[in-house]
Amino acid sequence: MHVAIIMDGNGRWAQKQNKPRIEGHKKGADVVKQITTYAANHPDIQYLTLYAFSTENWKRPKMEVEFLMKLLDNWLKKELETYIKNEVKFDVIGDISKFSPKLQKRIQTTKEKTKHFTKLTQILALNYGSQDEILRAIKKLCRLGLEVSEENFVQCLDTANIPDVDLLIRTSGEVRVSNFLLWQIAYAEMHFTSTLWPDFTPEELEDIINQYKKRERRFGGI
Ligand code: FPP
Repeated sequence: MHVAIIMDGNGRWAQKQNKPRIEGHKKGADVVKQITTYAANHPDIQYLTLYAFSTENWKRPKMEVEFLMKLLDNWLKKELETYIKNEVKFDVIGDISKFSPKLQKRIQTTKEKTKHFTKLTQILALNYGSQDEILRAIKKLCRLGLEVSEENFVQCLDTANIPDVDLLIRTSGEVRVSNFLLWQIAYAEMHFTSTLWPDFTPEELEDIINQYKKRERRFGGI
C-alpha cells in the first residue's frame, strides 16, 4: 500500500517547550527516520510519501528556510546508511530545480545509490505543490505532443510509475489537504490525528493502519 503523510506541527511542538521552531524540525527529522525504518519493515507498506517542503514554505522567515535546506542536506548525507541498511529506494517529487546545486546533487546521488532497493520506496515531496505539479504535467504533455488521455497525463506527473495513495495521514489536528497529491488521493482513505509530528510514533502508525484495514473501500462501486 501507499501511505502519504503531511508531517505537521513541528513549530507548535517546539513552542510548547519554549524552544525555537527549528528544534521542532530537528526532532521531526528523527521521527522521519523512525517511521521510514518502521515502514521498510512493514509487510503492507510499499510506498511512503512524506511532505517535507511545500511550494508555499518559501514564505517562511529566511532563517527557517535556510535551516530546513541545511537539515535536508545533512539528513541525506547522514541517513544514506539508513536507506541502505533497510533496503529503501529514495525518490523525490516536486520541482527541485529551485534548490542549490549542492542539494540537487545530494538528491541525485541518494537516488542513484538506492535505486535498486525494493523493500520500500520513500518519496520526499520537496518544493512540492500539487497544483504546480499538475501544471507542469500539462506543459510536458503539450511539449511531447501527446494526446490528452488519463494514461498520458498520469505519466507526466511527478508520480509517474508510483501507484495512487491508499492512506493519507495528517498530524497536528489540522483537517485540510494543503495542496498535497490532489490527483493521487482521489480514492484515498484519510486519517487526521491531533498528535504533533515530533510526537508521532510507529505504534500510532500501526494503529492507523489497523483502522484502515477495517474500512471498506468501494472506489465508487457498491
Ligand atoms: C510542518 O510543521 C513541517 C514542515 C513544514 C517541514 C517538515 C520537515 C520535517 C519533518 C523535518 C525535515 C524532514 C526531513 C525529511 C529531514 P510546521 O513547521 O508547519 O509546524 P506548525 O504548523 O506547528 O508551525
